[in-house]
Amino acid sequence: MEGANLIVTGGCGFIGSNFVRMVLTELPNCRLVNLDNLTYAGNPKNLADVENDPRYRFVKGDICDAELVASIFAEEKIDTVVHFAAESHVDRSITGPAAFIQTNIVGTFTLLEAARTAWQGRDDVRFLHVSTDEVYGSLGETGLFTEETSYDPRSPYSASKASSDHLVSAYHHTYDFPTLITNCSNNYGPYHFPEKLIPLIISNALNGKELPVYGDGKNVRDWLYVVDHCAAILKVLQQGVFGETYNIGGNNEKQNIEVVQTVCDLLDEKVGLLSSGETRRSLIRFVKDRPGHDRRYAIDAGKIRRELGWEPSVTFEQGIEQTIEWYLNHREWVEEILSGSYRDYYAQQYGER
Ligand SMILES: NC(=O)c1ccc[n+]([C@@H]2O[C@H](COP(=O)([O-])OP(=O)(O)OC[C@H]3O[C@@H](n4cnc5c(N)ncnc54)[C@H](O)[C@@H]3O)[C@@H](O)[C@H]2O)c1
Repeated sequence: MEGANLIVTGGCGFIGSNFVRMVLTELPNCRLVNLDNLTYAGNPKNLADVENDPRYRFVKGDICDAELVASIFAEEKIDTVVHFAAESHVDRSITGPAAFIQTNIVGTFTLLEAARTAWQGRDDVRFLHVSTDEVYGSLGETGLFTEETSYDPRSPYSASKASSDHLVSAYHHTYDFPTLITNCSNNYGPYHFPEKLIPLIISNALNGKELPVYGDGKNVRDWLYVVDHCAAILKVLQQGVFGETYNIGGNNEKQNIEVVQTVCDLLDEKVGLLSSGETRRSLIRFVKDRPGHDRRYAIDAGKIRRELGWEPSVTFEQGIEQTIEWYLNHREWVEEILSGSYRDYYAQQYGER
């Protein structure tokens, strides 16, 4: 990948921004275009530290805009696609699924077509589609998702991601198109938008607000530090076999309530108890469960470990500590989001507490 010309979609989001930063560090001779239309979840400030890098170009635009995408492929001689752009929040997909269909399905199709048209006859190109373990549905008490697990998406979000995965695989089978798919478990870490569980809890707990936990709090997720996810994607991009899917996971199964309690305890330790003298666990409130809330996800990441030699570099305990430190050192980042347009949505979803 020396001298690669990449297009990264959704690079102003949570995982995309961490990935852009990693690529610019790890691949000194690359050139990278970040195509992002800055939805509520996209924040160009996530990449403020690289915006003057001459190898980096930001294009504000929609992945569904076929003309724009084709022009970027031509102007920048794109040979590598890393596709993150998506509507990514399950709750929003329940209240407003249309945007998920448009961006996640039609947007992925638009990118595939642009790449297929631009790359005819080339064998030095690759298209990596970033997806989720949620396409596999929900697990009982035991078992793990492998790359062979049948798809069984349950939310409009996971159904739209499943659909985009199928399109990507179909391009490989139909056109011998050089695809790679990664299906990853829940990420956490720096630049995570504060509507998702961990940053929401950190932000509320710091401000002494209630900590909403769905249902009985016993839903289980596998958690992966975002930097480890980005390293896995880079590895798949460099060494993955076209047409293959790689599951990526942290081997860190936790109940939601355990995650929330860990954040509370770490914050009590780092910044002291609440002004009332109570611990932050006292802020936990169980709220009505999300409709169709999948009970458990767990990933078998054996294939990427065996075939590409990737493993997570941090445990959940290390990663969550680093994440909390990051949020403590970047409080203005969260405050700016919460005081902007996101606030109305936040108030509607969780009430002004
Ligand atoms: N967050 C997770 O835990 C997780 C886990 C596994 C897989 N994924 C996948 O990783 C990808 C990135 O997730 P994230 O959490 O960083 O999401 P995010 O919501 O933080 O970021 C999405 C980015 O895509 C941009 N975007 C949305 N629609 C667009 C469009 N039509 N055109 C151009 N840009 C658009 C947004 O502005 C934003 O910058 C998604 O595809 C998601 O399905 C996420």
